[in-house]
Amino acid sequence: MTHTNTPSRYWIIVPAAGVGARMGAGMPKQYLTLLGKTILEHTLERLLGLPNVTGVLVAISPTDNIWPQLPVSANPRITRIDGGAERSDSVLNALEALADQAQAQDWVLVHDAARPCITLSAIQNLCAVLVDDPVGGILAVPVSDTIKRVDANHTIVQTLDRTQLWQAQTPQLFRYGLLRASLASARARGQTITDEASALEANGHPHRVVEGRADNIKITRPEDLALAHTILQQQETTQ
Ligand code: CTP
Ligand code: MG
Repeated sequence: MTHTNTPSRYWIIVPAAGVGARMGAGMPKQYLTLLGKTILEHTLERLLGLPNVTGVLVAISPTDNIWPQLPVSANPRITRIDGGAERSDSVLNALEALADQAQAQDWVLVHDAARPCITLSAIQNLCAVLVDDPVGGILAVPVSDTIKRVDANHTIVQTLDRTQLWQAQTPQLFRYGLLRASLASARARGQTITDEASALEANGHPHRVVEGRADNIKITRPEDLALAHTILQQQETTQ
């Protein structure tokens, strides 16, 4: 990897092409409304508050006709990219769309549309901790529950050592060249990838967790909506 003297640029990719099957809301969960705005608008509003971002790419399903109705879709800093079958396909599509503009050492910050409670200070801390890192890293929190490994009958097989377990979140921040190559090679091997970090891991690029906040929840199931509502409301009054 070549490092130039010019500071690395930052790109943001927001995968927002999921259908929200576990939410079961009849529409993709990123378009559900909390405090008068869709979840996707909350997420983008926070990300657009970051200084020094070169471009924001949002992966949207080609069949999605809700996105164009959101005012934020007309924001000149945002580019719509076609999402793919899996989250990792959506992210890789966005990375490929940057091929002519991004350099290998540029930073790419990938953040789920479904995590609207992310704070700017957590993102800025992630960027600051990793600023000289050749690979990157992710926000995560130490696991606070006791974790059980079970067999097919749900009988407990083992209680895992919690001190070694962290729960991965987004943003995940990686160098453009390594991230793109790692996701492409995972796809070529047919490997299932649920976050960027596992693609880097599978390709032998060690990287770190940076401790984030437990309230950066991923809205996944119906009961998460009330929680996210409370978190957003509380953050709005304290920031
Ligand atoms: N995502 C995406 N492209 C896909 C699948 C998911 O861009 N093919 C995005 C989602 O929109 C979401 C993020 O990846 O912002 C995290 O995925 P997840 O929470 O699993 O969302 P969904 O896939 O929509 O939900 P489900 O798995 O319950 O269907
Ligand atoms: Mg999913």
